Amino acid sequence: MPTLAEQGEKSRVTQETFNVFVSDKLDASGLRFLEQTNGIRVSNKPGLKGQELKDAIRGADAIIIRSETKVTREVIEAAVRLKIIGRAGVGVDNVDLEAATKRGIIVMNTPEGNTKSTAELTWSMILALSRKVPQAFVSLRQGEWKRSQFTGAELYRKAIGIIGFGRIGREVARFAAAFGMKVVVYDPFISAESVKQVNVTFAPLNDLLKQADYVTVHTPLTPETTNLIGKEQFALMKKGVRIVNCARGGIVNEEALLSALNEGRVAGAALDVFIEEPPKKDNPLLQHPAVIGTPHLGAATVEAQENVSLEVAEQVVDALFGKEIRNSVNIPSLDAESARVLRPWAVLTEKLGLLQAQLFEGDVKRVEIRYSGEVTAYKMAPLTAAFLKGLLSPMCGESVNFINAIPTARERGITIDESTTTATEDFANAVAVHVTTSSGTYFVMGTLFGNKEARIVRIGDYDMDAIPHGTVLAVTNDDKPGFIGEIGTILGKNGVNIAEMTLGRRQEGKTAFAMINVDGNVPAKVLEEIRTLKKVQAVKIVRF
Ligand code: NAD
Ligand code: MLT
Repeated sequence: MPTLAEQGEKSRVTQETFNVFVSDKLDASGLRFLEQTNGIRVSNKPGLKGQELKDAIRGADAIIIRSETKVTREVIEAAVRLKIIGRAGVGVDNVDLEAATKRGIIVMNTPEGNTKSTAELTWSMILALSRKVPQAFVSLRQGEWKRSQFTGAELYRKAIGIIGFGRIGREVARFAAAFGMKVVVYDPFISAESVKQVNVTFAPLNDLLKQADYVTVHTPLTPETTNLIGKEQFALMKKGVRIVNCARGGIVNEEALLSALNEGRVAGAALDVFIEEPPKKDNPLLQHPAVIGTPHLGAATVEAQENVSLEVAEQVVDALFGKEIRNSVNIPSLDAESARVLRPWAVLTEKLGLLQAQLFEGDVKRVEIRYSGEVTAYKMAPLTAAFLKGLLSPMCGESVNFINAIPTARERGITIDESTTTATEDFANAVAVHVTTSSGTYFVMGTLFGNKEARIVRIGDYDMDAIPHGTVLAVTNDDKPGFIGEIGTILGKNGVNIAEMTLGRRQEGKTAFAMINVDGNVPAKVLEEIRTLKKVQAVKIVRF
């Protein structure tokens, strides 16, 4: 498949026409832009599913979606010419990113176009919840006049706990000042010093939960944020707390929320998003008198839809014509020659970042990334961006991409120190990274075998030869006979197949470090069983 720049060159010479398929209802601003662009043929057919969708996108060079179209592996396989998937909105959880990346398809989103609207919906929810506006209107419409039944709560001098202090969280905090509210924030990936906003107090999650009269979540849905607010967290909250979720269904555990409402600990909840969308009509949360809700309307304003529609259309056109790649969530932006050489290096550095993020603890303060060998003849910034994307994506989800990774890291107060040397040591070309966090400095190093296969060659003091692929068990263990057998037995009896394995140790009989690649996943109970082994000091799962 040609690179985008090569493709751009070709299209300038031959005036090639690109087919753009729009599969969800898109605001007219973006459609107009596409229709008026020379060399773009638009097909606007929202609502197709299954075989009809596959047939319709067979000849598409780009597809533009919102949240309804599920771009599954099968859809991607059917779209044989597909180069770009453009998402008008933030979340790309409706796209099989792995399948797209494997095919070299760029997936891009529009992370800023709906920030204001989502923050405004959050405040609509907080106000409506406090004053029971939806319930009161239903009663009024039934001919009732029950004023005392709808006595609400004032916001003035109350504490709002904001979980996730990114674009939307910050916007929500800005409005809180107008109501005279105290703002408590929890975001382990943002340092208090890097935040310019005044009147915001950073606190550990449990402290926030104990103080807040309102708890609102604004994180992406990731394995770490799934069930972030569950039974234990509700138990810490003040009696009478109100909960708002305008981020993603599943960040607040729905069963635990229902119990907390029934017990009276939670006075009310406002939900824009649900684990299952649309939720079943008999979903008990929707039947609960203290719950109000909207059908995923965070971005449903004229302005936000216009913004994301035009932004995605412009981004897709620029990328198709090889001009520029903006807001890609899966592929670095590179010119043709650099792309050919650097793409496998970018894959490696992103994996080094992912490894650092999942293996080590604490808030990241500093990244020192040193490139050595001939590869340094090229610009290294895209590789650093790829490293930071890997490092930040477990925290930021799909909103961090190759384009915004460096500014996002700086915004978080992370110092980036990039250096190059043509001198080589053990490897002809290598990337060595020290990451300093609030709990220490951690080191990893990687290289490419045969100029294409990523390898982790050092973790801390351990020399390794690890393949950063799929699911890996990272085990710190006593260097004693029998360890491999014991761990192999546990995995084997639970049907988890070992695909690859590498061991490093400092000194015979002391501590060793193993990276064990497995097929599929490692269930939590298997991980627990491994933890009980005497020779195991620590075990973590790293997902590449
Ligand atoms: P963002 O990336 O700017 O901010 C997300 C923040 O969450 C980051 O600061 C990150 O550090 C923080 N975070 C990540 N993991 C965390 C954790 N475990 N605990 C606490 N904080 C954590 O994203 P954004 O634009 O503010 O969007 C936030 C979410 O809102 C996204 O998931 C998006 O899908 C959702 N969203 C919903 C709607 C809607 O229609 N309801 C509209 C837009 C966005
Ligand atoms: C998003 O991720 O941008 C939001 O969920 C809004 C949407 O696309 O509906």
